[in-house]
Amino acid sequence: MSRPVAVVTGASSGIGAAAARQLAGAGFEVVCAARRADRVEALAAEIDGRAVVCDVTDPASVAALADEVGPRLAVLVNNAGGAFGLSTVAEADSDEWRRMYDVNVIGLMQVTRALLPALVAHGGAEGAGTIVNVGSTAGRIAYEGGAGYTAAKHGTKVVTETLRLELFDQPVRVCEIAPGMVRTDEFSLVRFDGDQARADAIYAGVAEPLVADDVADAITWVVTRPSHVNIDEMVIKPRAQAAQHKVHRV
Ligand SMILES: NC(=O)c1ccc[n+]([C@@H]2O[C@H](COP(=O)([O-])OP(=O)(O)OC[C@H]3O[C@@H](n4cnc5c(N)ncnc54)[C@H](OP(=O)(O)O)[C@@H]3O)[C@@H](O)[C@H]2O)c1
Repeated sequence: MSRPVAVVTGASSGIGAAAARQLAGAGFEVVCAARRADRVEALAAEIDGRAVVCDVTDPASVAALADEVGPRLAVLVNNAGGAFGLSTVAEADSDEWRRMYDVNVIGLMQVTRALLPALVAHGGAEGAGTIVNVGSTAGRIAYEGGAGYTAAKHGTKVVTETLRLELFDQPVRVCEIAPGMVRTDEFSLVRFDGDQARADAIYAGVAEPLVADDVADAITWVVTRPSHVNIDEMVIKPRAQAAQHKVHRV
């Protein structure tokens, strides 16, 4: 029996890599997509999946991903994303804001648009295709210096809600996982342009932040519910993070 296919974008690190591993463990053939070839190739070899070098912001690259996936697709995890910088609106860098909108919203839209026919085709035969968008608590609140990222992740949330409405009569589930503070190797390092001390300060004193596997666990749970069950959204934070601004540090 051939395995159902799952695409995970941003599979080269962090939450995406963990989700790819867990979905493979749950019986999926995982297409690992990201820009760094060496990373996705190593992961695909490890989990008996497929690697596709893909920049979700580049239409030609996304078209090549759709070609590789083929006519049937069970699961799409739109995880590629990130934050760049932490500047106030008064000192905002337009290029950083554009890059955040590009990867967290336009990229998600482009991959979804390209793979939707394959998700519908699978759903028609097997019950439902599933889209899981990785949003953020940044898509629900505001914080100082965060407007470029929070605006983009509010975009992720609203695109998810809109898509669910538009697909109400189609065999496709549309879900959002919205994590709070997750300690992954690269997220804060990318945000602060490689400044390890600034990245470490985000998690300073937090005994148990979420880790990538905690979010991957939620993604896998959402995907493996019976096909008539749509988990619209799940906000998942470490116990120490009662609210964005209220974090227990020891
Ligand atoms: N860590 C947190 O605290 C946190 C909290 C809430 C939400 N999130 C969200 O969770 C998702 C994953 O974050 P993470 O913590 O796992 O961070 P991460 O390790 O930096 O992962 C980001 C992934 O996205 C990929 N990516 C970035 N730009 C891309 C592009 N243009 N095309 C294709 N892939 C691209 C990166 O791979 P390449 O560089 O190889 O392309 C990488 O695999 C993001 O959407 C992030 O916004 C994170």
